[in-house]
Amino acid sequence: MVPYRNAAGGPPARRIPGSHLSMNLETKRTKIRYLRRDDLEDFYAFRSDPEVCRYQGYDPISRRSAVEFIESLQGKEFGTAGEWVQLGVVLKETGRMIGDVGLKPELDVRVVEFGISFSPDFQGRGLASEAVGATMDHLFDRYHVHRVIGSVDVDNVACIRLMERLGFRREAHFRNSFFDHGVWRDEYLYAVLDNEWRR
Ligand SMILES: CC(C)(COP(=O)(O)OP(=O)(O)OC[C@H]1O[C@@H](n2cnc3c(N)ncnc32)[C@H](O)[C@@H]1OP(=O)(O)O)[C@@H](O)C(=O)NCCC(=O)NCCS
Repeated sequence: MVPYRNAAGGPPARRIPGSHLSMNLETKRTKIRYLRRDDLEDFYAFRSDPEVCRYQGYDPISRRSAVEFIESLQGKEFGTAGEWVQLGVVLKETGRMIGDVGLKPELDVRVVEFGISFSPDFQGRGLASEAVGATMDHLFDRYHVHRVIGSVDVDNVACIRLMERLGFRREAHFRNSFFDHGVWRDEYLYAVLDNEWRR
C-alpha cells in the first residue's frame, strides 16, 4: 500500500482530512467517545478477562498496563496513519463503559482497520453491532473513509458473525499469520467499502 497523495500530487497525507471532527457518537442504547482516565475500572475488568483475550493475540491486561495504556491515549485524535485510537462504548442506562472499539488508519489513510472488545456481561444483546455500526456510519459519512477492514481468528465465531451481520465481506484467509499463546493461528480478513455500506 502506498501513502495517499492529493489530486495535485502533493506530499503523502499522514492524516485523514477532517480528522479533527468530533468522536462523540450516540446510538439508541450507547454513547461512544474517546477512552478516558475514569474508564480504568471498567476497562480493566473486561480486558483482564481471559475469555475476552482468547482470540486476540494478547494476554489479559494487568492493572498497571491498563493505566499506562489509557494514559498513552490521552490527547490522541483519530486520523494518523498507523496510529490506533481507542473509543469507549458506554451503556446509557448505567453510564458504565461496556466495551471498546479501536481504529487505525493504514498507510493510505482512506483505509481504516478496526478492532473490538466487549465485556462478556454485555455480549449477545446486539450492543456491539449497534456500536460498530454507528462508528462505521461516522467513518464513511463524516471522514469519507473508502474502506474499513477487520481481521479475525478463524475460530472467533462471535466476531465473524458480528462482521457478517454488518455487511463485511470475507476477502482472504491468511495461513499461520499470527503467533498466539504458543501456536500459529489462521485469520480471515474482512472488509467493507464505502459504496457497499448500508445507510
Ligand atoms: C466480538 C464481540 C464484540 C461480539 O459481541 P456480540 O455480543 O456477540 O455482538 P452483538 O452485540 O452484536 O450481539 C450479537 C448477538 O446478540 C443477539 N441479539 C440479542 N438482542 C439483539 C438486538 N437487540 N440486536 C441485535 N442482536 C441481538 C444476536 O442475535 C446475536 O446473537 P448470535 O451471535 O448468536 O447470532 C465479542 O464476542 C467480544 O468482545 N469478544 C472478545 C473480544 C474479541 O474477540 N474481539 C474480536 C477480535 S477480532
